[in-house]
Amino acid sequence: MNSIKVKRICCIGAGYVGGPTMSVIADKCPDLEVKVVDINKERIDAWNNADLSKLPIFEPGLDLIIARTRGRNLFFSTEMEKSISEADMVFISVNTPTKTKGLGAGQASDLSWVEASARQVAKYAKGHTIVIEKSTLPVRTAQAIKEILKTTNVENQEDESTKNFSVLSNPEFLAEGTAINDLEKPDRVLIGGEDPRAVKALVDIYLKWVPKEQIICTNLWSSELSKLAANAFLAQRISSINSISAFCEATGADVQEVAKAIGTDKRIGNQFLSAGPGFGGSCFKKDILNLVYLSGHFGLPEVAKYWNQVVEMNNWQQDRIYKIVLEKLFGTVNGKNIAILGFSFKANTNDTRESPAIRISCDLLEEGAILSIYDPKVSFEKISSDLNKFSINNQGIWNIAESISGALKNVDAVLILTAWDEFYGLDWNYLASLMRSPAWIFDTRSVVSRQEIHNTGINLWKLGEGS
Ligand code: UDX
Ligand code: ADP
Repeated sequence: MNSIKVKRICCIGAGYVGGPTMSVIADKCPDLEVKVVDINKERIDAWNNADLSKLPIFEPGLDLIIARTRGRNLFFSTEMEKSISEADMVFISVNTPTKTKGLGAGQASDLSWVEASARQVAKYAKGHTIVIEKSTLPVRTAQAIKEILKTTNVENQEDESTKNFSVLSNPEFLAEGTAINDLEKPDRVLIGGEDPRAVKALVDIYLKWVPKEQIICTNLWSSELSKLAANAFLAQRISSINSISAFCEATGADVQEVAKAIGTDKRIGNQFLSAGPGFGGSCFKKDILNLVYLSGHFGLPEVAKYWNQVVEMNNWQQDRIYKIVLEKLFGTVNGKNIAILGFSFKANTNDTRESPAIRISCDLLEEGAILSIYDPKVSFEKISSDLNKFSINNQGIWNIAESISGALKNVDAVLILTAWDEFYGLDWNYLASLMRSPAWIFDTRSVVSRQEIHNTGINLWKLGEGS
């Protein structure tokens, strides 16, 4: 079997997955040329910004990698045709949001961007090209990509003799906020495919830094499904502990203690057991809804119902938090000032996709609350577009604070929704003096301890802590 020597890689999509993944590949493989292309010029300009604090995504450690690789063997551009035609390997790493209309709306993934990318590859590629699905996709999407590549191939008669493709699935398991570590020291790398030469070419790239035993090769469909299943299992764990958090509040148990007690059982494990305001991020909800949709499609309504409940529980958790705030503030927040600490869906990222903060903030604005929002990394523009219903109609009143103390000035309550490091160990004695009595802290991430607010006069409600 002749091996394929990959020299040039192109990645379509310079987002939260494509950007960090290609940066790490370029860093670990200095002999490879890696080009990341995107239709969004503004995003590409931001990736090329000399000021590394202005990269389009915030990810700890990413700036240092960009500093050593950009311009050396890592390039960001909008030159789709040239980058694809020169590449031996093309990663598709574009957005795959849940469909908002048409068949499967609200559940199935919208594959428009994947299809457009496949068509671009089919059109511009030269010779043999390995095409890799990186975005999370519904099971059997590789088949659709194969068909697009094949069909477009036949249309272009002149290239037909030389142009051909191998399609692989290589799902990304990075979590935002820890993406660099997850990429540099992955639990496993998963590669699905049928062409052994293409699989080996990709394995050889990862072997530059990942031990052989951690590279799992499967068929295409197992690889695609494993990604959906892994995210569904992780999300299910969060809904499980969140359901227990409500139980703890009702019974006087403490969810932290319960999580510790159950997590010491090796079969359960102690990771991913933090109760919170519900999971956000671009993957969990979308992937479960995908599973639900596909289960229905394959005639498995019980399976669909089972997984749908994980999303229902997540919605309920967000809903009940906003209702608790309402109830503790004497049943109304109309005209009351409330600070929101943390708007990203988790700490160490500026990503707000599916962030619980959006839904909870909108519900509070709907009730007439005046919000003062502080997040160390999320921009005003992002928050504004997330709360757009309230920005456009000018119904709700909210503002962005530049600091924690700025956010807490004159508020009746503070709602902590993201566990940013800087929210731990605050001087609550001082902050209490800025707040209006009777002041409340609603802590959904367990960042405040009871000792810290002792003698401050502040009331503390902690998610999952029964009284
Ligand atoms: C997830 C998967 O972890 C990753 O493998 C996949 O590639 C993409 O989706 P991500 O969404 O970036 O990654 O972050 P993750 O750390 O999984 O957190 C998802 C959400 O769950 C966040 O809102 C987080 O706050 C919440 N969460 C996580 C909890 O509420 N409790 C936990 O114990 C863990
Ligand atoms: P993810 O979290 O999966 O990386 P993002 O939304 O952060 O998702 O990034 C996806 C990127 O893919 C966006 O920057 C978008 O502009 C880009 N993109 C979408 N479709 C295409 C396309 N056909 N060609 C090039 N880039 C595309």
